[in-house]
Amino acid sequence: MNSTLTLLAGLALAGSATASAATDPARLARGKYLMEGPVACGNCHMARDAQGAPLPDKGLSGGMLFDEAPFKAYASNITPDAATGIGKWTDAQLKKAIREGIRPDGSLIGPPMPIGFYRKLSDADLEAIVAYLRAQPPVVNVVPKSEYRMPLPPNYGPPVGKVKAPPAGKSAQYGEYLATIAHCMECHTPRDAKGMLNFSQLGAGGQEFKGPWGVSVAPNLTPHANGLKDWRDADIATAIRSGKDNQGWPLKPPMGFPFYANISESDMQALIAYLRSLKPQPGHKP
Ligand code: HEC
Ligand code: HEC
Repeated sequence: MNSTLTLLAGLALAGSATASAATDPARLARGKYLMEGPVACGNCHMARDAQGAPLPDKGLSGGMLFDEAPFKAYASNITPDAATGIGKWTDAQLKKAIREGIRPDGSLIGPPMPIGFYRKLSDADLEAIVAYLRAQPPVVNVVPKSEYRMPLPPNYGPPVGKVKAPPAGKSAQYGEYLATIAHCMECHTPRDAKGMLNFSQLGAGGQEFKGPWGVSVAPNLTPHANGLKDWRDADIATAIRSGKDNQGWPLKPPMGFPFYANISESDMQALIAYLRSLKPQPGHKP
């Protein structure tokens, strides 16, 4: 290649890099995979009917109610509608909201949004998620204001700097990253008397979830006989993707099986390697 052509090629690349923020196809594809797969923000943010079935044409316009003793929270409209969604927020504001739980007006996003886990989202994955959100159709939907009958902390920790994911692959280390951004342990770890996750019992299960389905109890995911020790890899994958236990019985919500159905084979192997690396806990006996 002569020097003029090299220069032109370089300019074209630089041009596409600046225009790319929201439209770079690889970034958008990564965002789609994360959002419709392991990260599954839609499991909480999708608009739903009274029975809890998703309303696909209303997208991520929110409204789902989390009615708990300390709060009555409604999932926000996170479509790009300027008036009722996040359309007026800049990329930087949106990133801060997702990874630090702080809105542009400085207010704190309350539970159950799992901000503690999202603090570990890599810069690249956060950008991919923002690109995906920007690419969604705006949906007008006014969501009621959440009510917190408990003091919210001033923040979820110091500002998050740069975050890099471990190298992608089938390792337990990458599986831990995936389980974090999929907030598996938000549900599968027991809580203490104050409602805080008890990380010394990581993955031991026992939390109860009430809803139109009745009550479900998060099982023990550690490699203990009360957990997944005797489960084959294929059965664990089927449980996560298809919502069926190792006897073929259907598993109840609120785990986002329809999203997790899209988890890639390599990512599934990483997740399983991570679960197998957890400290065995007697924890919750099914
Ligand atoms: C477990 C449920 C849950 C999950 C998972 C979840 N959210 Fe939320 N999110 C909420 C709730 C509830 C609120 C409202 C909290 C409040 O009113 O303070 C919220 C608020 C927000 C807000 C603030 C919007 C506003 O207008 O104030 C943004 C942005 C947001 N979520 C984005 C996301 C993204 C992106 C993801 C995935 C990476 C995600 N959420 C995952 C439940 C969830
Ligand atoms: C919103 C809460 C929630 C999240 C997030 C969640 N789970 Fe679950 N999970 C549950 C509940 C509740 C059950 C049990 C459902 C039932 O018994 O009907 C379950 C069942 C399972 C099972 C079947 C185990 C058994 O003994 O039957 C596996 C495996 C599992 N989850 C793994 C995961 C992994 C891996 C992730 C993250 C990718 C995850 N879960 C995210 C709540 C959750």
